[in-house]
Amino acid sequence: MRRLLITGASGFFGGRIRKYYSADYDVYAPSHAELDITDRETVRAAFQKYRPDIVIHSAAVSDTALCEREPERSRKINVDGSRNMAAASAEFHAKCLLCSSDQVYFGSALHGPHSEEESVAPCTVYGRQKKKAEEACLEQSQDCVVLRLSWMYDTESASRSEHSDFFRTLRNGLQTADILRYPVWDVRGITDVNEAVRNLEKAWDLPGGIYNFGSFNDKNTYETVLAVFAELGWDTKRLGKNEKAFAENPRNISMSLKKIQDNGIVFSSTREALVRSGRQCSRSFFP
Ligand SMILES: NC(=O)c1ccc[n+]([C@@H]2O[C@H](COP(=O)([O-])OP(=O)(O)OC[C@H]3O[C@@H](n4cnc5c(N)ncnc54)[C@H](OP(=O)(O)O)[C@@H]3O)[C@@H](O)[C@H]2O)c1
Repeated sequence: MRRLLITGASGFFGGRIRKYYSADYDVYAPSHAELDITDRETVRAAFQKYRPDIVIHSAAVSDTALCEREPERSRKINVDGSRNMAAASAEFHAKCLLCSSDQVYFGSALHGPHSEEESVAPCTVYGRQKKKAEEACLEQSQDCVVLRLSWMYDTESASRSEHSDFFRTLRNGLQTADILRYPVWDVRGITDVNEAVRNLEKAWDLPGGIYNFGSFNDKNTYETVLAVFAELGWDTKRLGKNEKAFAENPRNISMSLKKIQDNGIVFSSTREALVRSGRQCSRSFFP
């Protein structure tokens, strides 16, 4: 059985990765308290003990506002911690997958869909830290697979403590009488996390390098939700435009998926995924 080391398994993505792969792999998913990724010697000791074949490094400070507020603390985790994981992976001959983000494209002079070859100049602390983490990991090992993930959602929470996401925020909003407003100045892929989890099994056989990894979407968030509601036959009058968010710094971080598709990895489009999830949940949305 191949040995899988997962960091961040108490989190949104890592928890689902652990659950999905536990049946077919020998999974080691230490908690933050058991393995602090910022401590290089603890990381080395964990590799020495566990000898993983594959490492999925998803631990991070993923809250972008928290990164802005605490840049030094988040840098230690997002950049130094990632470097430690990649260095130990190289030393112990494990394949390392780094969870990066489409937010590295925020601030780019180019419009989306963005490709991996573009040079990026992120305009947020989180984006800059993810870019540095990518560089640090690839410096440690050219075999490292960097996955630029988009905004992920699930239809159900796995635990009370996990952060919310696009879909569950939408569902909660529908329980109120409010008009649900979505940004018109934000263009971004939105991905069913379960597709991302399943596709990891192909991702760890990829040659080292950077890969955009998620569902394709080139519509702004308002247009996206409007199209999904229309296709599901839901009341589009519940939706409104948010023209303030991102108005001063419009964001288009839509990603080209050609590179992963050329490597046999396929995602549903954002619209397809959301329509499928919406259909599954229609009854609980509109009892
Ligand atoms: N969720 C998304 O939509 C999304 C989109 C793009 C990219 N990503 C990236 O994907 C990865 C997973 O995201 P997520 O949403 O699952 O994050 P999350 O829910 O915030 O989970 C982060 C995990 O990192 C752990 N962690 C934090 N500091 C640590 C440290 N020093 N040592 C060990 N573990 C530590 C946390 O453990 P404690 O809570 O115990 O501290 C938690 O398990 C992250 O790298 C994120 O940047 C996520």
